[in-house]
Amino acid sequence: MQCETMAGGFGVSITGVRVDALDDAGLAALLGAWRAHHGLMVFPRQQVSDAGLLAFSRRLGELDLPPNQENGRQSAPGFPEIYVVSNIKDAAGAPIGALGDGEAVWHTDMSYAALPPLASMLTAREIPASGGSTWFCDMVAAAAALPADLRARVAGLQVKHDGTYNSGGYLRKGVVATDDPVTAPGTLHPLLVRIPETGQASLYLGRRRLAYIPGLSRADSEALLDQLWEIATDPRRVYKHQWQLGDLVVWDNRTTMHRRDPFPPSERRRMHRTQIKGTAAPAPFA
Ligand code: OGA
Ligand code: MN
Repeated sequence: MQCETMAGGFGVSITGVRVDALDDAGLAALLGAWRAHHGLMVFPRQQVSDAGLLAFSRRLGELDLPPNQENGRQSAPGFPEIYVVSNIKDAAGAPIGALGDGEAVWHTDMSYAALPPLASMLTAREIPASGGSTWFCDMVAAAAALPADLRARVAGLQVKHDGTYNSGGYLRKGVVATDDPVTAPGTLHPLLVRIPETGQASLYLGRRRLAYIPGLSRADSEALLDQLWEIATDPRRVYKHQWQLGDLVVWDNRTTMHRRDPFPPSERRRMHRTQIKGTAAPAPFA
């Protein structure tokens, strides 16, 4: 197994290993490298099968069901825990997956849940000739980059995570539309969380749309969130993954966020994803 730190120190590229044939020592080494690189690991051209993807995912924990998206829960045929991200339509014209071909804005997965998934992993089954790259940002580095006064301010605050819209801007199926961050339903999590495995602080923002910091006026909440988002998505702390067929990318949902570039509607893109259940609600970094 070869581990190569990616440019900027965020993320690790791992080769020389089959994720569906790991012994316990191999798994421990891999998880150690993952945590040391702030929760992002890439396996170029891993070419894992759906059964292998599930088997590897289960070694990381129990699995969550796919999120409710604009078309409901879209799973791979025969694999209810595998979520399909795709713009492809079936013979009847119905989308086989979520998020279409547009941009998916910065987010972390399912943070509107009281117990958000610890990690997600995505593998590329079909990729467009251009566009459709997935970007990741480093929220441990973002927390470390907060000026001391800002860090002290956010340490005592929570933010409301919205579950109304997904990252493609679509209303989730069966959910009531709203545009007021103050009254919108959502789940509160601390802004600055502690990652138990490493003891590190991570900035936990979830998604920008309909986010709100309770206790602040709407204007103050928007201003503070804008400031934090600028730090979180600073281009110096971002990794762009340009997919090759069979690539597998695994991310910690507490220490990273991601977004996706749009791609031409005439191109086909199909990704398979699993999501690993969290074992504890995000806890404040005290
Ligand atoms: C996801 C996601 C973006 C992409 O699967 O959670 O946001 O690049 N995917 O497909
Ligand atoms: Mn996502």
